[in-house]
Amino acid sequence: MDHSIESAPLEKLQSQCLLVGIHENQVLSPTAQALDARYNGLISRLMDRGDIKGKVGETLLINNLPDGGIERLILIGFGPRGELNRKQFRKALAAAGKTLKDTKVSAASCALLDVAVEHADTAWLTRQIVEMFNDSAYQYNATKKIDDPVALQALAIVAGDADRHAVETGLNQGIAIASGIEFCKRLADLPGNLCTPSYLAEQAIVLAGEHDKLSCEILEEHQMEALGMAALLSVSRGSRQPAKLICLNYQGGGDAKPIVLVGKGLTFDAGGISLKPGLGMDEMKYDMCGGASVLGILRAATRMNLPLNLVGLIPASENLPDGNANKPGDILTSMAGKTIEVLNTDAEGRLILCDTLTYAKRYSPEVVIDMATLTGACIVALGRVPSGLFGNDDALCNDLLAASETACDPLWRMPIWDDYAEQLKSNFADLANIGGPDGGSITAAVFLSKFTEDYRWAHIDIAGTAWRTGTHKGATGRPVALLSQYLIDRATT
Ligand code: BES
Ligand code: MN
Ligand code: ZN
Repeated sequence: MDHSIESAPLEKLQSQCLLVGIHENQVLSPTAQALDARYNGLISRLMDRGDIKGKVGETLLINNLPDGGIERLILIGFGPRGELNRKQFRKALAAAGKTLKDTKVSAASCALLDVAVEHADTAWLTRQIVEMFNDSAYQYNATKKIDDPVALQALAIVAGDADRHAVETGLNQGIAIASGIEFCKRLADLPGNLCTPSYLAEQAIVLAGEHDKLSCEILEEHQMEALGMAALLSVSRGSRQPAKLICLNYQGGGDAKPIVLVGKGLTFDAGGISLKPGLGMDEMKYDMCGGASVLGILRAATRMNLPLNLVGLIPASENLPDGNANKPGDILTSMAGKTIEVLNTDAEGRLILCDTLTYAKRYSPEVVIDMATLTGACIVALGRVPSGLFGNDDALCNDLLAASETACDPLWRMPIWDDYAEQLKSNFADLANIGGPDGGSITAAVFLSKFTEDYRWAHIDIAGTAWRTGTHKGATGRPVALLSQYLIDRATT
């Protein structure tokens, strides 16, 4: 998508389609008011007639206008003037994105910066417009013929000179974050036979080639073996695809300690010998969404040239049942030296993550944040609205919660109290890899916490948020926006 700032005054504006805001109770945004006057009360008449009331989520396409400059108008409802919150603004944009897609125009202009949104400035509004319209223009096409491709190719933000600086900031951030989200979604939506651990590693190398301060190193199985990563390697033993440990390094911040981002990269999780049931198993191609998010976040951060040092670590593997696979009862010695009894081979995420989290220590991290589609129990606990947040440092967790509010990428903090560690006791090893049916997302996080005691750490369980299930099945790109916001906040404070 091409993005630009449109500074022509409304009277001179040329546009295939202009998007403007209206409110309930016959109240128009300043831009809508000006257009209403120009078109002899057309917008007011349509509202009087009840064609659109202005509720959040309503849109109306006016596809023929008396003079040629503006060819179409999309009216977007933003509720009662002065009462719109950030989430509702995004909801309205999502509806507008759908209407816009249906029009088949190739270029659209948004005159939406005059809509008042609580706790939002011009840069935030601009960024959300870019993120939301890019997201609605996303189309999976890697393995499917598209009869009806999305036509939209250019988006202009209508802004006055006074707003120019803020709009540029929002536009740069929005373009960077949207490209990170798209990268994440394209990788995540690929099937497991195409998106293998080796493919993910290749994509990381391609990403590193996009920016001279970003480099990539791939650790092969023999190197992981030498490091003692037996927990990680036990998972790939059940698969014919070799595991890869993808290590990305972005040096944008001088000699500051790095923020380390870790993402679970299970390119397909059949469960291993503790095989999953067949229904819905295809969705386990999404078990690499944590890893894809790390790649997306790094793409966003590098495109914003954030003055930070960042490390991305993605353990990538499949989890399949093979003659050489992990078996229930097997005992592994992790890189940290702790022994682990594998009571369920389907709890593989924590096995690949624990060695990666141990490896993270060598970077002397400022903080470590891992993202993982770790537990079905997280969906039971929180549904598919917020991601689950766990961590050993309140300040870090609060920073992430604040970023999640700004980014409208919700998070909910969960406990990792010591009481839960009881459930991970084993008769034969230092730790069991499962903690029974109760509090499954918590015991998984507590398992990880035993490998993160030496640094400030947070874990984000994205099992319920990384993809949509059902007829609209597809990756969401979460939590790329959340972590991008967290990094923006770190870069400016
Ligand atoms: N990748 C799954 C978690 C998952 C399940 C994510 C469903 C999204 C939807 C993970 O590897 C897994 O299988 N976890 C098990 C853990 C259990 C064996 C303790 C689970 O959640 O059932
Ligand atoms: Mn599993
Ligand atoms: Zn898994």
